[in-house]
Amino acid sequence: MPEMMQTKDKSSQVFTTDLDCQHFTRCSGCVLDTNLDQPPVMEEVTEFFLKQGVAEFTLESGNLWEWRCRAKLAVRGTSMDPQIGLFEESSHFVVDIPSCRAHHPSINATIKLVKEAIQELGIQPYNEDLHLGELRYVQMVVTTFNTTLPAAEWYASGKVQVSLVWNARDEDSIQADRLNKMAELLWQRGNPKSANPILHSVWANFQTSRTNIIFGGRWRHILGESELLERMSGIDISFTPASFGQANLQVFDVLLRRLQKAVKIGSSVVELYAGVGLIGLSLATTRKCRTVKCVEVNKEARLSFEQSLSRLPASVNSNISWHCADASVSPIKWLEGANVVIVDPPRKGLDPPVIEALRTASLRGLGKTKSPSSKTTDKVEKRPWMLRAKQGAVHKESASNWEEEENTWPDTLIYVSCGWQAFKLDYAALVEGDTWYLDDAKAFNLFPGTNSIEVLAIFKRGKKPPKVVKKGSGVRSKSAKSLQWTRAGKRLALGNSKQS
Ligand SMILES: C[S@@+](CC[C@H](N)C(=O)[O-])C[C@H]1O[C@@H](n2cnc3c(N)ncnc32)[C@H](O)[C@@H]1O
Repeated sequence: MPEMMQTKDKSSQVFTTDLDCQHFTRCSGCVLDTNLDQPPVMEEVTEFFLKQGVAEFTLESGNLWEWRCRAKLAVRGTSMDPQIGLFEESSHFVVDIPSCRAHHPSINATIKLVKEAIQELGIQPYNEDLHLGELRYVQMVVTTFNTTLPAAEWYASGKVQVSLVWNARDEDSIQADRLNKMAELLWQRGNPKSANPILHSVWANFQTSRTNIIFGGRWRHILGESELLERMSGIDISFTPASFGQANLQVFDVLLRRLQKAVKIGSSVVELYAGVGLIGLSLATTRKCRTVKCVEVNKEARLSFEQSLSRLPASVNSNISWHCADASVSPIKWLEGANVVIVDPPRKGLDPPVIEALRTASLRGLGKTKSPSSKTTDKVEKRPWMLRAKQGAVHKESASNWEEEENTWPDTLIYVSCGWQAFKLDYAALVEGDTWYLDDAKAFNLFPGTNSIEVLAIFKRGKKPPKVVKKGSGVRSKSAKSLQWTRAGKRLALGNSKQS
């Protein structure tokens, strides 16, 4: 569990939930300066879910500072005075953020090291007007996995996989010459056996495009361990620098454990927008799933999935597969045979064909439409996609050799959302015509300092059953205005004394 979020201001002995960051207002990363445990959006979110009948709606929080274990920062300025940070709102001016309060301390220590290397070696930060310079961006990903230490010390001793985005076509270009020198200097000063052991590994990415796309297609591992592992919810997950990973590991771990409770043991699960398969693999392990299918469009996530798969305990007896495919192309075929569908889309929410397929799957499961196997209905449009998917797929067969279940459709839909505005629209489309109803929801303070939250919503197939009101139980009406949260993220009715 994450640590409690309070810190004690030693002088006044008062608990604070303030950001207290010197970069606030100039840096575009945070919009909240106070009450980081109560993002204002929660008022609307709470009201929404109470209206939908979620009685115990809570916001789970973890650390309010030092929570960010992933950062992609622009490198600009000069070799004498490098600036490493985020762009100022709607501009191309980079705000230097050496003391960011959201970053894991090892990220800030790495920024310092990168700056020293730039200055000492005279590395040229990128100039986008002239399209000149060497170092464009730096990505830093913290791993807290460390089996040589007691688990309680893992987070504080996190090590950084640093990726230098170099303005060169590849490692053989003339412009890449000084990349190795920079990598060696970083490694010499920050390797795990050095006096300042903050680095896990050094990577390069090559990007020469004039666009503001951060990464090019070519990656090279230079120093340190090539595999970065993280232990989440009891399993070891591998991340390459090119694949998506959660920035707030501790709170996502809490979300994952909640999510697992919504999946019955032995379920067949399909996960759309699966990334490296973190959710699916954790379910295969903890919920003894019969089948787990992960669908992800980014081919770079495949290697991570394969590595994580090879690390699962031998006792895991599921049919597990990962498919490199666009979930919005003929999505219905993924849903057939599953009891549970999980969606974890980007901030813009679900692709319209996915919403349509989820609605169709529900109707088929309810017996309200003819239920032809998707294997026959999709044949024509599926062909080119199938060829691609076959190339990109990874499979591990279960020892039990279970048959695929045709004409089974999900009765549980688990939606993990990082985009509240999109979620509201998707929600309306999903519940329309009683195809799905909301069974439960929780919020997670995954991005303290911002006014965004992560929502875990559990839907069930069909029409919501009427509430059974026990005699004498007296259902109270609640409105969001009558609510507030304790600093531990628990809901309190106004009038209760606020916990300090
Ligand atoms: C919010 S991330 C979730 C990843 C994963 N569940 C995790 O927790 O690590 C969204 C993922 O959806 C993928 N994605 C975006 N559009 C997609 C699409 N049309 N089809 C399949 N995957 C998609 C992205 O590449 C990204 O990995």
